[in-house]
Amino acid sequence: MSKNSNGLYRSHISGLGSYLPEKKLTNFDLEKMVDTSDQWIRERTGIVARRMAAPNQVTSDLALIAAQEAMRMAKVEAKDIDAIFFATVSPDQPMPNTACVLQRKLGARDIMAVDVSAACSGFVYALSMADQFIRTGVYRHILVVGAEVLHKYVNYKDRETCILFGDGAGAAVMSRAESPQDGEILSVHMHADGGISDLFVLPAGGSAMPLSQEVLDNNWQFVRMKGREIFKHAVRTMSHACQEALDANGMSADQVSWVIPHQANVRIIEAVAKHFGLPLEKVIVEIEDMGNTSAATIPVAMHKAVLDGRIKRGQYILLTAFGAGITSGSVLLRF
Ligand code: ACO
Repeated sequence: MSKNSNGLYRSHISGLGSYLPEKKLTNFDLEKMVDTSDQWIRERTGIVARRMAAPNQVTSDLALIAAQEAMRMAKVEAKDIDAIFFATVSPDQPMPNTACVLQRKLGARDIMAVDVSAACSGFVYALSMADQFIRTGVYRHILVVGAEVLHKYVNYKDRETCILFGDGAGAAVMSRAESPQDGEILSVHMHADGGISDLFVLPAGGSAMPLSQEVLDNNWQFVRMKGREIFKHAVRTMSHACQEALDANGMSADQVSWVIPHQANVRIIEAVAKHFGLPLEKVIVEIEDMGNTSAATIPVAMHKAVLDGRIKRGQYILLTAFGAGITSGSVLLRF
């Protein structure tokens, strides 16, 4: 068993999987729905198409496909999974949580199964929680999922939000490292600033504003945001979280093989890269064909980069995210 000098186990990502629905909503489709243009969307966001789950596909269905792929890569079966941490802001329903639905669909044992609500930072939050349970020896394999069906929370008459969001799922199996050759989560740094939580909200559907005819008449069941303000905080919080990760590990940005930021807007990603003097060639950008899939963007982008050979075992990878809350964070790992 591989422990650190402080007597704790080490955790690593043993498997990754992802799933994007086939149906695409393109910029040209949106041109027919709201006052916008393909050129405006491409230049301001880098997005060309976003995915739409089929009418009969719910968040746990997308997650199941991603999870099964991650488990195949990790060479674990449902019986080996000790916990499920499911990051989402678009659960199948408020209750039961989507982690329990996924547990049933996977045929997993009687285990801890919980949803993590931290919007687009949800996957890095869930990863950091899984890291603690593995390091302390409580669990050996944890399934960490980021999955969303966001198109049901978007108002397709609001051109400021409907151009951004899409559906998708990513999953990672986090496992106890068994040998020094296995990778390692090196640091986790999570943040939240509830003082500016009004920048990105989904007002209705909770105890503050239960669903009613008035809610539907006013479109309060859909996301609302102050895009320009979020943009500034996104660059600031992700740059800060990345710097914390580098400082905590005594590393400089050029020692990192890949940065995988939350895929919200390509200009936000470029601004973070510029802050560190990083060439964009070292940043995984997968926004063009999927848009912002909230908690799913990082595991989907990472899985794609592993599959096409950009990311290799042993490389240092820096994950960073921000989201509604305003939440943010970073995870530095050796893959
Ligand atoms: N098509 C055409 N014009 C538009 C559109 C559109 N889809 N949307 C807005 N505009 C207009 C605005 O009305 C404005 O017009 P005005 O100058 O006449 O007032 C003009 O374009 C410029 O608007 P800005 O808001 O300044 O445009 P900006 O360059 O900031 O881009 C955007 C807007 C893309 C929303 C950007 O601010 C952004 O990406 N912000 C971050 C959003 C985000 O990441 N949200 C999710 C965060 S949390 C999470 O990921 C869950």
